[in-house]
Amino acid sequence: MRRKIIAGNWKMHKTSSETGEFIGRLWDAMGRKEAHCEVIVAPPFTSIAAAVDATRGGAVKVSAQDVHWENQGAYTGEVSGAMVKDSGCSHVIVGHSERRQWFGETDESVNLKIKAALRHGLIPIFCLGESLEEREASKTFEVLERQVSRGLDGVQIASPDRLVIAYEPVWAIGTGRTASPEQAQEAHAFIRGGVGSLFGRELGGNVRILYGGSVKPENTRGLMSRGDIDGALVGGASLKIDDFMGIITESA
Ligand code: PGA
Repeated sequence: MRRKIIAGNWKMHKTSSETGEFIGRLWDAMGRKEAHCEVIVAPPFTSIAAAVDATRGGAVKVSAQDVHWENQGAYTGEVSGAMVKDSGCSHVIVGHSERRQWFGETDESVNLKIKAALRHGLIPIFCLGESLEEREASKTFEVLERQVSRGLDGVQIASPDRLVIAYEPVWAIGTGRTASPEQAQEAHAFIRGGVGSLFGRELGGNVRILYGGSVKPENTRGLMSRGDIDGALVGGASLKIDDFMGIITESA
């Protein structure tokens, strides 16, 4: 049984004080007890300390949004896996399409970052997904195949709970256009098959694959009812308590 995960990717939103306040309210909205699913928030680096502080004693986990692949060194502006781990994060988002699009992230750098995350005891939330152009050219599965095989090349995964995958079709991110449950399910099943052929059926069958791209309370139930969709990576709707809580509730 794969326990669902609802993760909020806050991108470049929320200061430390806004983060502390939001998590306090979220925990109250959760009835101050563990939800049916794992709940994760990914604030910007500067708000991680406040997030970790606010989640202490609760059941909300904290993720970073990126990590560098080296353990340390002359990399101005970057943050290492050791630093992310030390800050109290359990997870780190790797390979988000905005990083691929705006910050030159490639399948190769994503691969190095996944390895760095695992090396430091962090669970990578490995993002992948096709662009609109690629979908329209019927290249979706070719792209997913490439992203899975290059992203996970040479990666060692001790157990299925050490890795989370997020299928995020680029055309659905922040656009209000969600993949239909059928489109998402088809992609998820394909990705699961790919993970299974790399790491064996046991791991493929148990790894959690989240859907991301304009997830809202209204479309959560339809998506979550599909067999291979194990939760959501939520951008815009994770910034408001009612919407984020609505998604948590609807995913049960
Ligand atoms: P969105 O973003 O929910 O705002 O579309 C999802 C994501 O980028 O992870």
